[in-house]
Amino acid sequence: MKILLTGGVGGQVGWEINRIAGESHHELISLTRSELDICNALNVDAAVEHHKPDILINAAAYTAVDKAEEDQDAAFKVNRDGTHFLALACKKATIPMLHISTDYIFDGTKTSPYEVDDPAAPQSVYGASKWEGEECLRKALTQHIILRTSWVFGRTGNNFVKTMLRLGLDRKELKVVADQRGAPTSAHSIAACLLGLCDAYERDKDLPWGTYHFTGSPETTWSEFAEYIFREGLKQNLLDHEVKVNPIKTAEYPTLAKRPANSRLSMRLTESRLKVLIPDWRNDLIDVVEYLKTHR
Ligand SMILES: NC(=O)c1ccc[n+]([C@@H]2O[C@H](COP(=O)([O-])OP(=O)(O)OC[C@H]3O[C@@H](n4cnc5c(N)ncnc54)[C@H](OP(=O)(O)O)[C@@H]3O)[C@@H](O)[C@H]2O)c1
Repeated sequence: MKILLTGGVGGQVGWEINRIAGESHHELISLTRSELDICNALNVDAAVEHHKPDILINAAAYTAVDKAEEDQDAAFKVNRDGTHFLALACKKATIPMLHISTDYIFDGTKTSPYEVDDPAAPQSVYGASKWEGEECLRKALTQHIILRTSWVFGRTGNNFVKTMLRLGLDRKELKVVADQRGAPTSAHSIAACLLGLCDAYERDKDLPWGTYHFTGSPETTWSEFAEYIFREGLKQNLLDHEVKVNPIKTAEYPTLAKRPANSRLSMRLTESRLKVLIPDWRNDLIDVVEYLKTHR
């Protein structure tokens, strides 16, 4: 099957899709931002018409959460309008679209994991732009899967694991936020899930279309995650000393964008309807640390 990937190569998830698609029998057409800017409706249409894919995966997004607070137009242009243009092009070509969204569409005040149909109440520009992108996709195209994920980390790009290991190289202790709960999710597991959905679509010519959650397990806090990263870094000799994590409150680490205190997303529907297993992020962290030892 021919898969057209937007936001390919440069992004965390796009990079992983490129890496593992080689092991699949699918033909992957991977377009970077310079090859296809999803904000250009004419070019989006032309790319879909030219490549004639069987399915489209959108891994392109504006993901600079704090910067988005001061750069609202750019965030909405990519996350809402770009998603909309892709959905319209897919509708015209009668192909499905797989898309990624975020826990930041919720306000984080719920005391248990968010279900897929819990009301959205984004607290940040990024969250609002992603939510409106979801809505545009749902309205424009029935044949879609939206995977909402959280706390993405991987071998490439900017992420918490790489930041912690970089800071840990020359620090003995660090303050890390301890009152936000969520689940780290590896870019690799998201990529594998998306390619698995392509397999299922090719086999069944159908998927249980709709919105789902996809995150790693077990849930944790940023400070516990940091402790885990430092332990793994030490175990694999990427760090040569222990790094102490001092837990702090969100209020002690002010950021431009507000983050949800509760980022936990229920995987109930994902397991029952999509038949997707919950990945253990600790296994992928071992791989990422091993990769970073030789690619710093
Ligand atoms: N990162 C997280 O913690 C997190 C959490 C929850 C959900 N998500 C969602 O997961 C998805 C993948 O995230 P990620 O971490 O892989 O993001 P990422 O590393 O920031 O990659 C995003 C990619 O999109 C490309 N892009 C940006 N604007 C574009 C445009 N106008 N046209 C085409 N490409 C464009 C970027 O290209 P350049 O490199 O040229 O800028 C980059 O390659 C996104 O939908 C994101 O919202 C991420």
